[in-house]
Amino acid sequence: MKHRSIFLSPPQSEQSDWTLFVDDQPFWIRGGEVHNSSSASADYMEAHVWPCVEGLQLNTLLLPVAWESVEPQPDQFDFSLPQALIDQARKRGMRLIFLWMGLWKNAQSTYVPEWVKRDTETYFRSVTKPKKHMYVSQCSISTFCDAAVERDAHAYTRLLQFLTEYDPQHTVIALQVENEVGLLGSERDYHPLATQAFLSPVPPEVAAAYAVSGSWEQAFGRDACAMFMSWCYASAVGRIAAAGKEVCSLPAYVNAWTIQYPGEHPGSYPAGGPVAEHLSMWKLCAPAIDWYSPDVYLPDFAGEIGKYQSLPLFVPECVCDVRAASYALYLLGYPHSLGVSPYSIENIGGGQHLVTGNPVQEGAAASSGHSAKAALCYGRTNQLIAALWPLVSLGRRTGDVWSFLEQGSSRRCVLSVGDYDCLITCREHEANAPLAAALILRTQPDVYLIAGMQCTLEWLAPTGENWLSEYIRLEEMDFSSGEVKAVRTLNGDDQWPSFGEELRLVRATLHKV
Ligand code: DGJ
Repeated sequence: MKHRSIFLSPPQSEQSDWTLFVDDQPFWIRGGEVHNSSSASADYMEAHVWPCVEGLQLNTLLLPVAWESVEPQPDQFDFSLPQALIDQARKRGMRLIFLWMGLWKNAQSTYVPEWVKRDTETYFRSVTKPKKHMYVSQCSISTFCDAAVERDAHAYTRLLQFLTEYDPQHTVIALQVENEVGLLGSERDYHPLATQAFLSPVPPEVAAAYAVSGSWEQAFGRDACAMFMSWCYASAVGRIAAAGKEVCSLPAYVNAWTIQYPGEHPGSYPAGGPVAEHLSMWKLCAPAIDWYSPDVYLPDFAGEIGKYQSLPLFVPECVCDVRAASYALYLLGYPHSLGVSPYSIENIGGGQHLVTGNPVQEGAAASSGHSAKAALCYGRTNQLIAALWPLVSLGRRTGDVWSFLEQGSSRRCVLSVGDYDCLITCREHEANAPLAAALILRTQPDVYLIAGMQCTLEWLAPTGENWLSEYIRLEEMDFSSGEVKAVRTLNGDDQWPSFGEELRLVRATLHKV
C-alpha cells in the first residue's frame, strides 16, 4: 500500500508555503529527537523516554532505527524493534519519524551490522589525510564502496516495505536517510577509487548543470573537494532514498551538520554533507530527497535558517533548553517551516543524561543546561501551537503570519505587519530565560492574535504615513483547552501587550486615528 495521504505540498501561490500534509491535513511537527541509543530498546523507551516526554504536547518523536538492529545477519531481517516502537507511539497517539542510521551517522559507520564492520575488504573505508585541526572519522565506509551502498539501500527498502505492511495508518510520517553524512578529518576521500574519480572529468550531468568541464579541480578550483564530496554523498544517499521511494512514498529528508564558521574547510565540517552552501549538488544528485534539514546548534538561529529561503524547513535538531520554546514560536511563523525538534528531548526536564564518551554529544549536553523550566516553556509553546495551528495554517496560505526572534545584542526591531510597523522591544536578558520571540497572526483586517515571550509590542504608522494606532479592544486569550478563546478584556494598565517568560496570547483589535 502506498502512503498517498502523507505528502509535501509546494506553495500554491506566491504568498503561501511549503506544507506537510498528514492524513490529508496540514501538519506542523511539534517534535523531539531522542538520544542516539534510546530507541535501541523498547523497554528502555518505556522506562526512560516516554515518561519524560509526556506533557510536552509533542505530536512527533524522532527515533533512530539502526541497520545493525534490523539486519543482524545478511538478509535476515528482524523488524520487531521498529514494530514495538510503533506500538508504543500508537498507544500515546504520537507520530514518529524514523532516523535511518545506516551507513553513515555523523561521518562514521558505527550503526552498520557487525558482519559489515568485520568485513573491511568488501565494505572498505574512506582514506583520510587529516589536516592539523581536524577531528578524524575513524571508521567511515567509502561512498565508492558500491557493495555497501547496495546493502544499505536493500535494508532501508526492507524497512519501508515493513512500514507499508505494518503501518497503513501512518504512525511513521517521514524518514531521515542517514544522519549528518559527510567525511570528517579530510577534505576528501583519498581512497584510490575516489582519487581516480577526482582526477577524471566531472560526470556529464555535473558538467551540464554547472557549465564546467575537465577534472574536479579544473571545474571547481578551490571548491573542488567540497563539490566532489557533495557529489559522492548526494549520489550514494540519493540512491538509497530512491530505492526506498520505489516501495513507499513517505517523505524522506537528510539532515546536516552545518558549517560552523565562514570559510570552514570541508573535513572540519563533514565534507560532502547536505549543508545549505552545497544544496545545488544534492538537488542534482538526490532527487528522491524531499527536503534538506539543518541541525541548528549555532546561537545565530535566525541566520542559519535564513539560508533556506523558499525551501521547506524542518529543524530536526536544536538545543534542548529554554531557547527551544522561542525557536518553535519563531519557526511557526517562518515561511515554509514544517516543524522543529530539540535533540535529547527526554532530558529536557532534567532527566538522566546518558554519558556516551562522545565529545560532540557531551559538549551539546553541557551547553544546553537542561531544566524543568525548559520543559515547561517548550510544553506550553507546543500547547499554543496545537491550539493555534488550524488558524495559522490558514493564515500561512494568505500571507497573514509574521514572527520575530531576538538576535544577538540587538534589543529592538521593527517588523512590517500588514498596514502597521510593529516595534518589538526585547526584555533585558536574564539567565535561563527564553529568548524574546513573538508570533503575529492577522485573522481579520485590523484584528491580530499575538503570542509572545520576553518582549513588548507597539503599533506604529510606517514611515511617510501620519496616523496613530489605538486599541479598540485587547483581549487575553486562553488556549489550554486546545481551543483559542477570549477570557477577559484587558484595559487600563494592562492595555499594553507586554510578554514575560511565560508565553501569553492576546487578541488586538486596532484602528488608525
Ligand atoms: C548531532 C547528531 O546528529 C546527533 O545524532 C547527536 O549526536 C548530536 N549531534 C549530539 O549533539
